[in-house]
This record gives sequence, structure tokens and C-alpha cells, in this order.
Amino acid sequence: MSHSSIESVSREARVFAPQEEFARTARVPSRERYEEMYRRSLESPDEFWLEIAKDLHWFRAPTKGLDWSNAPHATWFADGTTNLAYNCLDRHLDGARRNKAAIIFEGEPGDQRTLTYQQLHREVCRFSNVLGKLGVTKGDRVAIYMGMVPEAAIAMLACARIGAVHTVIFGGFAAEAVRDRVNDAQAKVVITQDGAWRRGTVVPLKENVDRAIAETPTVKHTVVLKRTGNEVAMEAGRDHWWHDVLEAVPAKHEAPALDAEHPLFILYTSGTTGKPKGVLHTTGGYMVGAYATTQYVFDLKENDTYWCTADVGWVTGHSYIVYGPLANGATCLMYEGAPNHPDQDRVWSMIERYSVTIFYTAPTAIRAFVKWGDHHPMKHDLTSLRLLGTVGEPINPEAWMWYRKLIGGERCPIVDTWWQTETGAIMMSPLPGAIATKPGSCTLPFFGVAPKVLREDGTEAGPNEGGLLVIEKPWPSMMRTIWGDDARFAETYFSRFPGIYFTGDGARRDDDGFFWVMGRVDDVVNVSGHRLGTAEIESALVAHRSVAEAAVVGRPDAMKGQALVAFVTVKGGVQPTAELRAVLLDHVANEIGKFARPDDIRFTDMLPKTRSGKIMRRLLKELAGGGEVKGDMTTLEDLSVLAKLRADDE
Ligand code: PRX
Repeated sequence: MSHSSIESVSREARVFAPQEEFARTARVPSRERYEEMYRRSLESPDEFWLEIAKDLHWFRAPTKGLDWSNAPHATWFADGTTNLAYNCLDRHLDGARRNKAAIIFEGEPGDQRTLTYQQLHREVCRFSNVLGKLGVTKGDRVAIYMGMVPEAAIAMLACARIGAVHTVIFGGFAAEAVRDRVNDAQAKVVITQDGAWRRGTVVPLKENVDRAIAETPTVKHTVVLKRTGNEVAMEAGRDHWWHDVLEAVPAKHEAPALDAEHPLFILYTSGTTGKPKGVLHTTGGYMVGAYATTQYVFDLKENDTYWCTADVGWVTGHSYIVYGPLANGATCLMYEGAPNHPDQDRVWSMIERYSVTIFYTAPTAIRAFVKWGDHHPMKHDLTSLRLLGTVGEPINPEAWMWYRKLIGGERCPIVDTWWQTETGAIMMSPLPGAIATKPGSCTLPFFGVAPKVLREDGTEAGPNEGGLLVIEKPWPSMMRTIWGDDARFAETYFSRFPGIYFTGDGARRDDDGFFWVMGRVDDVVNVSGHRLGTAEIESALVAHRSVAEAAVVGRPDAMKGQALVAFVTVKGGVQPTAELRAVLLDHVANEIGKFARPDDIRFTDMLPKTRSGKIMRRLLKELAGGGEVKGDMTTLEDLSVLAKLRADDE
């Protein structure tokens, strides 16, 4: 084994074959069919993608797919013109989808609202006219700082419709983060709400905007949706109520033809490290990627009720709440608030009440559900579900097994979807019905995706040898650049292995060719000459019945290079005792080997996470090393976690 590769210690060997009943009606019903399509997608990518693009509406149909002559800048479908909002809305108005529910919304307080495709189209047209009236034209940037309400999707679609570039800023960010993103994008307009509901309290979005835009010279107007009814300051001429400006415009709006490479959105990566990057996506390639992955990965059918629990502030919300599902004419459930409000069974109650068929969430949420207890899902009838998905982090095999059993009733396939803000759409995932699943593996690449695991020297890693995950060929929904910093784009993604996209993740391929993502390579620890991905040690801890969640980091150690420190959260009702600590240390030694036995286990109520739910190991590393916690903390979800961890440290 190459000295520089990452050692994989996972022994996970469970395999679940696709169920016949599911396969019978699946869009891709067999492994053979997948292989055939996958081969075609790599051998003749232009032909493959142009064929899929034909499902969608183009004002001028593209005749070519990829142009990579200006690498690392790809263009796709460059001679075509289209409109993503037209494809999400107008395209569905001629047939039976006209009066189909596009968005079924449930507010945190329990209010409900349904928008059919016709109604959503009307709202988007009106808001497109509002933007026009405020002086927003093609190419202008618009910031959207809202909660999870249908108007967030309406605002996004209206921007896409007129060719304005939206940048959605997650509603949990503070004023400073809003200011920095608005300034980086040089947005002209900010769309927000008086407040957003979160666990029964009001998040003062407009107040944050007021503070942010005191220092953003480019912002000329704000549009404010009234949602919570709290008092807000409105500056005449600058701030406009959503309901007022909407009254004053017609409901007709013709979608213009936009170039396939017209910029669609900028999304700042949440980032567990460093300064946020403005990831730029463009229209045609992103549209085709989001459309095709939604259809195949979720095996979407006309009568599905699809629920993705992500926030629209993240790429998952962009691709799999708004653009992918709506481009497919799907019915999407959208929920405003916290998963444990008013009770810890809110999510299961909603699945039961709306007869949700497809449920897509994150490992961090699944671990919280495990911690809250089995009695919550068991109280509800979840038999409407036919497919489950997960995204955002490597999923610990035991959390996967819990998801399969408690939520999926051992009946639903689980699609573990690996992708990134930068990739725009799902890159690796089982196709349900065609590909067997293994707990913790994202299995095989989607059509047109050419992933490889490389050693540091660029040679390909052997089976089960951990290495660096790269994507060898361009794909339609890939990011086009970093907004305002093209040099950083080339440097970050295309310099490690010239001309090849480097994901920043570690991974291995098993004997069946299945991929196992082992987390960010920045998180790799070096213990006595073993380079270990922390995710596998964490999974060994989570496999113990007392553990809900674990994060493992390295601390400098004179003997071993690095010593392992595990931060562990126990399940409800379990006491974090010294005996348990000893049991867990032995447990890891038994599961993996003595070399992976942590040097220290620290029990904690909570782990520091980004606002999108990823564990911030960088902060834990600094804590474990006994140093000051420095660096960017604007993405930390709950600042009090750090103070608590420090206090536990004595
Ligand atoms: O490390 C991988 C992890 O999340 C990173 C991308 O994060 P972000 O840009 O915020 O996008 C999240 C939603 C797509 C990846 O580099 N990641 C995401 N999905 C998985 C994953 N790691 C393992 N398995 C996954 N399914």
C-alpha cells in the first residue's frame, strides 16, 4: 500500500439487493440497464445528455453538449437558449399538471397552504414583474434571505425567469454573514421577511438585513414578506412590503430566452474551513443535471409526494426542493420549522398526515432522531414511504440500519447521495431498483460521472485502498467558477491533479467497485504511521448501542504523531460514566484494532456543527490540542456549544 494513501479500517459487509417489487416499476429496473446507460453516458456524453435535454423546453435547441477547450471552464449546450423557470412552471401548464400541487407547505405553527403549478406560475410571473419594476435586469444579483416559505421558491424562480442571478443566504446566518455575501455578490435587491418561525420564536430577518445593508452600498431596495407580524422598520423608497408591490403589477410575464451558459445562481459554500466561496452555476447544464438526477435517483413518479428536509439556503434546497422536482412536475412538501417543534415526532407526524412517499434528509438529522428515541416514529403510520434518501456527510452504518428499519420498515431502498455545492447535482448514489445498497456507501456513479480514487502521486488506488476522490470528466451541472475569484477556482479544484476535478474528499473503492466516501481529507489523522479517515472510527463508536453521535480528531502527540480524541454524545437515558468510557475504548479496539483506540473520550451534550449540520472537526481539533479556538466561526450553528465543551475540559 502506498505510504501516502488513507487507510480504511471499515469492516462493513452487509449488502441489500434491490427488491423485486421496487425494481418492477423502477425507471432503471436492473443493474444491466444501469451499466448500459452508464457506458453510453461516458462513451458518447454529448449524445447522451442532448437526448435527456430534449425532455425540456428550449427556445433554441442545443446542437452540442460539452466544450472543454477552455478547461477548467466547461460550457454545456452553449448554442441553446432556454429558461429554467419556464421549464419548472410554464412547461407543465398545458396538461394534467396544471392543477396538480407543486408545493404543499406547512408552517411551523401548523398553517397549511397548497400552490398548484398554475398558482405558482402566477405568483412567479407577478414577482418577476416586481423585480423588473425595482430595476432588476438580466445579470443583476439579488440576495434572498428568507426562511422556508413558498415565497423563497417564488423569489428564486422569478430571478431565474428574468435572468437575474440569485444568491440565497441561509436564514440562520447573522447580519455580518449577510453583509459579506451581499457585498461579494454586489446584490442590488435583498428579499427577506419580517421574521421567520423557529421553535416557536421569531428570527428577526428584516432587522438583520437592516444592520447588514447599512454597509452594502450596492443595495437599492428590499422586499419584505410579512410572515410573523413582528414590528419592523421600513424605510420609505427603499423597503417595500411583498403584498404591496405584488398588488401593483400584472400577472402576465413572458419568460425570455436565456443562453444556456447564462449565470443562474451564486451559492456561498457553508465551509467547515476558510472564507466562503461563491460557487457559480449556470442555466442549461445545471437544469439538465438537476432534472435527470431527481428523476432517476428518486425514481420519481407522477403521483409521488416528495419531501426533502433541506433548507433552500443550501444547494440541496436549490437542486432538490426547487429546481429538480419542479422541472419534473413533482409535488413537493415544504416545511418551515424545526423537526422537534412542538414535539420530537413532528417529522413522522407530517409523513403520516401527507402520505409522503419519498423522504430525503441528512445524517445529522437521522442521528438526532435516533437520540430522541424509537417511540416517536413508532407512534406513526409511515407505510406511505417507498424511498428514503440521505445527503451531506458519510452516514454511519448503524444510523443507516436504523433508518432502514425504523423509518423504511425494511421495505424502502435508501439512496445515499454523494455530491457537493460545487457539483450542482448528485454524483454518486444507488439507483433504487438497479443497484444493491451497503450501509455507508454511496455505491456507484450517476450517468456521465467518472470518479476515481487516486494516491497522492496521481496513480489509481487499488481496491479498498483509501485515497483522494477526483472526477475525471466534466459533467453538465458542474460549477463554472468562483464568483469574483477565478484564480481560486482553478487553484482549489484543478491544481492538485492538473485538469482533473479534485473533490477534497477521501474515499475508497471496495472489491465490488462501490465507493465509500471517508470525509474531507483535511480531517485525516496520522496515528503511529496509520493515516485514518475519522469517519470510520466515528462509525465504530456510533455502532455501540449507547452512542448517538461521535466526532474524532487528532491531537499532536510526541510518540505517535497524533493521538485520537473522541467527542461522544450518548443516547437519551444513557449515563456518560467512566465505565462507559472504558467500554467504548475497548469497543473501538475490538471493532477496528488497537491502533485506532482513542486516547481520550470526552462526553458532550452537543457537537459543534455548521448550520447545515456538518460536524466542525476543525474547532474540536483546536480544543483537543489545548489551544485557542481561532479562525472563522460564522458558520457555527450554536456558539454556546464551544463554551460548554471548554467548560467540560476543566
Ligand atoms: O464531504 C462530502 C460531504 O459533504 C461535502 C459537500 O458539502 P456541501 O457542498 O455542503 O453539499 C452538501 C450537499 C450536497 C462533500 O464533499 N458529503 C455530502 N454528501 C455525502 C457526503 N459525504 C459522504 N456521503 C454523502 N452522501
